[in-house]
Amino acid sequence: MACFAVTLCVIILSGFINQLSAANKDTCDLYSAVGQSLMLPFVYETLGNTHVLKWTHNNTLIFYRHQGKVSVGKAEDVSASGSLLLKNLQFSSAGAYQANVLHPNNTLAKTWNGQVCVMDKVPKPQITYVCDFKSGAVKLDCKVAKPQDLAFSWTLDEKTLTSETSQTLSISLAQLKGERSFACSATNKAGKERSDTVRPICKSPSPSPPPLLCFTSKTVVAVAAGGISLILFLLICTIVICCCHRRSKRQERLREKGELRMISLNKREPDSTGPSQLGSSVSNFCFDCFKVSLYRLVAW
Ligand SMILES: *[C@@H]1O[C@H](CO)[C@@H](O)[C@H](O)[C@H]1NC(C)=O
Ligand SMILES: *[C@@H]1O[C@H](CO)[C@@H](O)[C@H](O)[C@H]1NC(C)=O
Repeated sequence: MACFAVTLCVIILSGFINQLSAANKDTCDLYSAVGQSLMLPFVYETLGNTHVLKWTHNNTLIFYRHQGKVSVGKAEDVSASGSLLLKNLQFSSAGAYQANVLHPNNTLAKTWNGQVCVMDKVPKPQITYVCDFKSGAVKLDCKVAKPQDLAFSWTLDEKTLTSETSQTLSISLAQLKGERSFACSATNKAGKERSDTVRPICKSPSPSPPPLLCFTSKTVVAVAAGGISLILFLLICTIVICCCHRRSKRQERLREKGELRMISLNKREPDSTGPSQLGSSVSNFCFDCFKVSLYRLVAW
């Protein structure tokens, strides 16, 4: 009875181990990406025309050559030593491949088995970065369309950063001094793709501008222009007023003289036109004076 139980146990255990090894068989010997080519590395050095060469995929015959004649598959896909080239791989190209070489007397000369796994092509990564002045670091991100099952690596000035293997990289701003170039690579078992080189530029906000003077440069320019115009306007006004004042004083003196003359020489006609004429000539002169000042300023 005990013997029976032990036997049963052994049977169950062996079945379990068999299953385990079967699961192990599912792991891949060769990896490739969709669209790529893959050479199945079977080598039989003394392969000749008298041998039979057979290749199977998932137990389906895909290549058969006997007496130098190829009846299944393409002759050019097989090398002199018997390796098979798989072109333009698809997901359906995955699976178990087997090569068999038979002697002319139909005995097996050499066999080879391989499990091929086909994966998505690694997308080309793209680096984005953020300057973080609070923490004094630049944070780089190695962006890829499908980041699953990918390993990442980074280079700084073309030197691999061996300790950086995550999708993001943080570098202190102090380390960024001088133009530093970064690149990242995404890798899976089927291939590797590298990003373009990126030179992060982190311009710190100008060293501590007092918050009250936080104007945009446009505002500053506008205010400066306004100030200059105001000064020019005041300058012109001052010149005009000075000119006019001086002139009117002279005119007044002339008028006094003229009136005296009129009083002494010409008492018959009423003195109606004199002062108004003088007044208009004063304003004319002021206008001329203003024009001249303006021209000078423009010339200056
Ligand atoms: C071969 O088997 C694998 C699984 O082992 C499967 O993914 C693949 O599609 C199969 N291909 C063909 C052509 O049967
Ligand atoms: C078949 O041929 C091979 C090489 O020609 C030889 O090594 C092998 O012993 C032969 N086997 C038998 C059963 O004749």
